[in-house]
Parts: sequence; structure tokens; C-alpha cells
Amino acid sequence: MANLILDKSKRGWWQSAVFYQIYPKSFQDTTGTGIGDLQGIISRLDYLQKLGIDGIWLSPVCASPQVDNGYDVSDYCAIDPMFGTMADMEMLIAEAKKRNISIIMDLVLNHSSDQHFWFREALKSKDNPYHDYYIWRDGDADTLPNDMWSVFGGPTWTYVPHLGQWYFHQFAPEQPDLNWENPKVRQGLYSFIRFWVDKGVEGFRLDVIDQIAKDPDLKVTTNGPKLHDFLRELSREAFQEEGLVTVGEAWGADVERAKLYSAPDGSELSMVFQFEHMGLDQTSWQKWDFAPLPLVKLKDCYRRWQQGLAEKGWNSLFVNNHDLPRIVSRWGDDTVYRVPSAKMLATMLHGMQGTPYIYQGEELGMTNIKLPLEEYVDVEIHNLFRDRTAEGYSPEAVMESIWKRGRDNARTPMQWTAGENAGFTTGKPWLKVNPNHTEINAEAALADPDSIFYYYQKLIELRKSLPVFREGSFELLCPEDEKVFAYTRDMGNAHLLVVCNFTSKAVPFEIPEAFRNAKTLVANYPDTADTLRPYEARMLYYE
Ligand code: GLC
Repeated sequence: MANLILDKSKRGWWQSAVFYQIYPKSFQDTTGTGIGDLQGIISRLDYLQKLGIDGIWLSPVCASPQVDNGYDVSDYCAIDPMFGTMADMEMLIAEAKKRNISIIMDLVLNHSSDQHFWFREALKSKDNPYHDYYIWRDGDADTLPNDMWSVFGGPTWTYVPHLGQWYFHQFAPEQPDLNWENPKVRQGLYSFIRFWVDKGVEGFRLDVIDQIAKDPDLKVTTNGPKLHDFLRELSREAFQEEGLVTVGEAWGADVERAKLYSAPDGSELSMVFQFEHMGLDQTSWQKWDFAPLPLVKLKDCYRRWQQGLAEKGWNSLFVNNHDLPRIVSRWGDDTVYRVPSAKMLATMLHGMQGTPYIYQGEELGMTNIKLPLEEYVDVEIHNLFRDRTAEGYSPEAVMESIWKRGRDNARTPMQWTAGENAGFTTGKPWLKVNPNHTEINAEAALADPDSIFYYYQKLIELRKSLPVFREGSFELLCPEDEKVFAYTRDMGNAHLLVVCNFTSKAVPFEIPEAFRNAKTLVANYPDTADTLRPYEARMLYYE
């Protein structure tokens, strides 16, 4: 299938684009270190071009002690030697551009590493010029400034005895929060952004951007009072003139706030990356307390977002990333119906309005992994085990949570071949390769015209060829149906119907009259039947 080339000189080109997220550590190793690298990504650009994507969201590659896999940056303008050199990065940007693929870098602006020059200076004394780049509270070692709890477990405060002060961190102690109230911090961060724009980077994914305006005195982390003031300044000073695509990770966004983030006037960001749909299958606010997916709620959630942002903002479409378990293991079936359910989930998502993000391996239907505790690397997993067993949970129960929801599920190396280490490395992989690579791998997918890979390729091509995907209005059908997710998109004479069976049983469904003679754009069964078969998905279209 021929690739459709997007004209990126057009304003808002990213609304027709499909992005692909690369987690560099796990993508492709070329040096035998067991860790993926930039040359590895370059060597796989043809594969990505074949898939048809328009941009790569590159998870962090800047210098970092890797306490949180690069989300702890010690030098924003240097490449971590583990991944290669600045010359490799320049080559990646250039080689990607040749294939009309834009590089979108991951920017971690809420916090730095404790090894960043700013923090090392800040630690020296209270009157050091960099001290106020971070957030401090005076006190003694026995009394925490307050009871705020960090995302990865433990208090948000760490004590520095020689200063007689606590510093604030929403994540690990090695990730001190930057003080956005200080204009010098903001200007410093903007200069890092300009550095990368000058190198040819065409956009940024902004890590936990809803947490930058924290206020520990109010015990506020997300959506702080100054959040949108900060974002507008950031946009004005660093983004607008360059015409970049900017994506804000915002766990705390609701539809109203998303309209601010992604206002069509471009005053803040291009689009929001929000998670409401990812938090429905749990029994508490914590992802570890998992529950079956409530499909009726999921559909209502999508409906609210689709209709709420229409003409007022722009959403990202995703069900996977490096922080989430593999979707086929979560909402699909990773055993008998792995292939149809992976295609069904892709159909459900790619029919909507927004910009899709495919997370590496999703296009192969990669699954979760089950490892013993000691084989996991993620700091969050180990802290969870420590904290929950101390609270009295049984180790077995905690492991169940980790197997279902741990972030390392998504971080196992990319499965390229059925061979040793899935063709990811000739060395010892930093995290176990999923043993199912013998069956699930890119080589096999490319050789099978019916594979999940080619199904994604088709969806990507469709999105680029039919404007109804970008602009059509959204209508949810059968909202109370607990098994079928069906919706229509309409734009003038163009009408699209998406129908998805979320279960492993055949279910009745009547195709609406108007679509009886419509063309099938894509489907995961070769023919039609009176019912929707297990995980059956169909996209119908007429003009
Ligand atoms: C974001 C990243 C996650 C990281 C955290 C702290 O949520 O996606 O991987 O651990 O921010 O930077």
C-alpha cells in the first residue's frame, strides 16, 4: 500500500498525523550493551516508514543517571552516552526527515535529576544563586513539612542535613521539583527548548506538564493556580514562532481544562494527552486496584471527550504508552483472540477524532509479561512492593497488581524476530525479552498480509485519506450496550460507522439502515455474519 505523504507546511498538519512512541532503551540495540540506542532507531526507520507514521515521540534520550529511565535529566542539551552521541541524534533527525517523519522529543520540565548542575549548586548553600531553582522548606530532620506523598511512594520531602532544609519532589528523591515561580528557571528551560529546535526537532511531548505549578503549602500538585499562565508564557516564548507540535501529558485534565491546553488559537499547546479513559477499570484512585473494564462507562467517557473537544480543542488517541500495561492484555484477550482483539482495539481508537499515538510493539500485538519481582527494573514496582507489603498486603496480591499494571509490561524489548533476544540485542537485554517473541515479532508480522501490522498500516492510510476522521462529528450508538462499542462520524455527505465487539462471545448487533450498503473500509474478519463474532470490528463508510 502506498504511503500518503502529509504536507507538513500546512497549519495543524499534526491533526491528520499518526505518531509512534519509541522507548529508546527497549527499541533496538546496535552495540551489544543490551540497551537500545539511537543508531538502532535509525536502522528501523524504514520499518516505521512502511507502517506509515508521520512522527516519532522519542522518550527521553538526554543525559541522565537513569533512576527513572531518563525522566531524571542531568543535562538537557546532551545525549546520554548510553544512547550514542549528539552526531547520532543529528543523524536520526535528518534520516527521519528524509522519510517525512518528524522527531518529537520528550521534555521533562517539572523536575530535573538531582545530578543536574542546577541541583548540585543548589545543594551547596542557601544563598547559592541556584538554590531557589528548587523548592525548599526549613525544618528539623524529624518533622516533615507536611504529609504529602510522592507518586512513586514515600514522602514528597527529602532532608538535607547540612542545609537544615527539606526539598520537594513529586516523584523519586532523585527527581527534585523545579521551582517554576522563579523566572530564571523558566528562562533556563526555554533555552534548552530552543537548543533542540535549532537541531531540527519538530515538537515536544511535555512530561507531567499539569504538575509544574505545584504549591506544597496548599498541598497542590496537579492543576496549580498558575498552571495556564505558565503554559501561555512557555508557548509564547518557546513554541509559537517555531510552529511546533506540542503535546501535554496531563493526568489531571478534564474536558474543560483540556480546552485551555489545546485551544485552537494555539495559546498553549497543540494537544492534550489525558488519561480519563485509562482509569476506569480500577476500584480506587490507584491503578494497582484493578477491576474489569466497565464498557458503558468507557463509551460515555469517550463520548464526552469527543463531543466536548469538537472544534474547541484537540485530543491524543492512545491506549498504550511506556507507563501503561499492554492493551491487548488489558482490554483484549492475549491468548486465543490476541490478533482479532488487538485489531478491534485499534479500530475503536483510530476511528475517533484526535491524533493517534501507537506505542512501540502495539502494532505487533505485544503483550504483558509475568516476571518474579527481582527481574523488574522499574523504581515504581519496587517501591510498591515495599510499601504495600509493609501495609499488610500479601506478597501474592501485590504481585498480581504488578503483573496486571506494572510499567515494565510495556518496557520489555521490542520483538523484531523469533531469534535470540528477539533480534533486539546481541548482549544481555536490560529487561527480559518476552518469551512469546518466538511467535509475536515484526519479521512474522511483515510476512503475513493479515497481520496486526498491516491492519494498523491500513488504519493510518485511511485517516490520511478521508477527512471525516479528522473533522467528522461523533455520535455514540447503543450507549447502554455492555458488549458493543459503536459510533458514527459525520461530515457533510461523508458517513463513517465503527462497530466493535469487546467480548469473546458472538453478540447480536444490527447495522443501522443507512449503512446497509456502505463500503467496508477495514474489518478484522474476512466476511460478514448475522452476529458480531468474538472481538469483531468493522469500519463502514458511504458518501
Ligand atoms: C511521566 C512519565 C513517567 C515518569 C514520570 C516522571 O508520567 O511518563 O514515565 O516516570 O512522568 O517524570
